[in-house]
Amino acid sequence: MSLPVPTDPAPTWANGPRIDPDWLDTPRPSDPIISHALIVFAGATPLSNGHNSVLLHETIAALRPVPGGVYLDATFGDGGHALGLLRASVPGGRVVALDRDPEAVARGQRLAEATEGGLTVRQARFGTLKNLLAEERLAGRVDGFVFDVGVSSRQLDTPERGFSFRLDGPLDMRMDQAGAAPTAADLVNRMPAEGLEELFGRFGEERFARRAARAIADRRRASPFTTTRDLATLLERVIPGDGRIHPATRIFQALRIAVNEELAELSNGLAAAMEAMAPEGRIAVITFHSLEDRIVKQTFRKAALPPPTPTGPAAWLPVSREPFRPRFALDPARPILPGEEEIRRNPRARSAKLRVLRALAPEPKPMDRTA
Ligand SMILES: C[S@@+](CC[C@H](N)C(=O)[O-])C[C@H]1O[C@@H](n2cnc3c(N)ncnc32)[C@H](O)[C@@H]1O
Repeated sequence: MSLPVPTDPAPTWANGPRIDPDWLDTPRPSDPIISHALIVFAGATPLSNGHNSVLLHETIAALRPVPGGVYLDATFGDGGHALGLLRASVPGGRVVALDRDPEAVARGQRLAEATEGGLTVRQARFGTLKNLLAEERLAGRVDGFVFDVGVSSRQLDTPERGFSFRLDGPLDMRMDQAGAAPTAADLVNRMPAEGLEELFGRFGEERFARRAARAIADRRRASPFTTTRDLATLLERVIPGDGRIHPATRIFQALRIAVNEELAELSNGLAAAMEAMAPEGRIAVITFHSLEDRIVKQTFRKAALPPPTPTGPAAWLPVSREPFRPRFALDPARPILPGEEEIRRNPRARSAKLRVLRALAPEPKPMDRTA
């Protein structure tokens, strides 16, 4: 923990369901995010019109928040994890949250006003996390990070965002629609077929990548793709269904990852977070598919475990290797998965995995005997 624990009494908004009865008892259709978030914050059942935070209690428990602690939620979304951390770190706790989606940030800033300075919400992405940490003077001081990666249910369920193959909307998929990044339509209509094939294979792990890429290239000669349903209908024709997932699932995943550079973002975000942890600080990462989880697993293992002993001919080569002194530990060693009850309540949680890395306190320096 890096901040002194203040002796002030807990502010009124931090007292669970007693925080502000008006927020909890009055339906606020004009501002569902705030009532949703404050209800999550208050420990009650979340409303169904927002994002159901995945592995919420497990994540907060794994980070072991303490009063006066400093936390960074890198994926604010609808604020469930940020508010859970804020609630668990009163009095004196501070949560800095970011999101690359300006709509999430605008909702968060209204919420931040209600928390009397405990919560700060800023627009940023993992790739710029290092700068944000420096600006907020948080380098080396963060007791817990949350990365709940991917898109929120709110983004997925808003047709205009273009993430869903079930809802008709523009083929967009940018988490930051004000940004300059190419849209999914730009990729689908302008990338050479070979590029699309590679993209679908790498980021979608789609067996029928070539078939899908060629069908797209043929069809766009007649008319470019502009809507999600237009693309999904073509994919339903060319990718055989397996009865488990919709035929467009993997192609949409691949496009979304490419448009938002999600895998590079995740690697950069983890690197920045690992540099900024306080001693005994923790990073909790929730992923939703194997490409993301592989990055987290490999990054954490590399940081916490000694490199594998060489085998085969390499084992005979002389090596002068420094003894491995871990700065981090896997804590717990294995990923945490949602329970049956959570999956029943929120089927989108079914593929979630939570991994946690802990920064070890530096070893005490040997006593200086010359003094
Ligand atoms: C799964 S939602 C987070 C939900 C949140 N934990 C909650 O409880 O409401 C993921 C959020 O992270 C944001 N996001 C994804 N990748 C990001 C990145 N590279 N940088 C910043 N925000 C990102 C998305 O815009 C989205 O709002």
